[in-house]
Amino acid sequence: MGIPPVRAARLRRPRAGARFADEDQLLERYAFQSLRSVLRHHGSIEGRSVVEFGPGDTLASGISLLAGGAASYAALDRFVPDYSAAAAKEWYLGLKRAWPRLHQRPWPSWLDPASFPEAYPDRVKYIEGSVEQASSDQRFDLVCSFQVGEHVSDIERFAPLTANLLAPDGVAIHRVDFGPHDCWLNYEDPLTFLRFSGPLWTAMGSNRGVSNRRRHHEFLRAFAEAGLNGRGRQPLVVRKGSDRRRAHKSPLSAYASRVAIA
Ligand SMILES: C[S@@+](CC[C@H](N)C(=O)[O-])C[C@H]1O[C@@H](n2cnc3c(N)ncnc32)[C@H](O)[C@@H]1O
Repeated sequence: MGIPPVRAARLRRPRAGARFADEDQLLERYAFQSLRSVLRHHGSIEGRSVVEFGPGDTLASGISLLAGGAASYAALDRFVPDYSAAAAKEWYLGLKRAWPRLHQRPWPSWLDPASFPEAYPDRVKYIEGSVEQASSDQRFDLVCSFQVGEHVSDIERFAPLTANLLAPDGVAIHRVDFGPHDCWLNYEDPLTFLRFSGPLWTAMGSNRGVSNRRRHHEFLRAFAEAGLNGRGRQPLVVRKGSDRRRAHKSPLSAYASRVAIA
């Protein structure tokens, strides 16, 4: 994305998510996945402070976490879009409409999707920079990301940033997709994308960020080196899931390839 007109054209399109369509499967994927993962692995987030790395084109995940009980939400993304854009509001409004049939907890009366996030500066914050560069004095009860770890260029910074942002009893949940992405999903052998040398893989990618191809044990090691296993926090676990190639046509319950929890 180094050529300005190409960069401008790409920035006008959704980068990481999908355009809103009033479909439960899309809402599950782009709005509820974070809340459901957090509730499943961590339990209630009532009154907790949350930071999410790489929320994508909208804060659908963030408004879902706030509606699910979080007291505050911070976003850290290396590409910051207009989270108040009309296309983003469609997600927030659609989420509230779908909420009663998809979630037990009532939608909070204070949270108006039409004026989200701009009307909530006390609840919604932003941390500038990429996970490789960012720093903050704030500490959070929950640090999370979904489909981001496999895109960062340096997991040896991703892990310490996680550790540094955690409050003393905090928990981190990172869902990392270790499978093929983009055109590499089309190969019969799903491991084809792993068969190229590092330099060739980098040369084939764009600077929007290719999958880093870092494996699960490398994440485990990076988190351990950041002290996340040794400070009484929940150890990393792996959940096996289904073939990522089928995911686009499958119900969301079949989507997870692996989940790493620090
Ligand atoms: C595949 S998208 C996932 C978006 C969203 N979490 C989801 O599940 O749909 C990856 C996101 O991570 C962000 N990202 C990638 N590398 C990053 C980095 N090094 N630091 C911060 N954000 C990064 C991208 O800008 C994008 O928003």
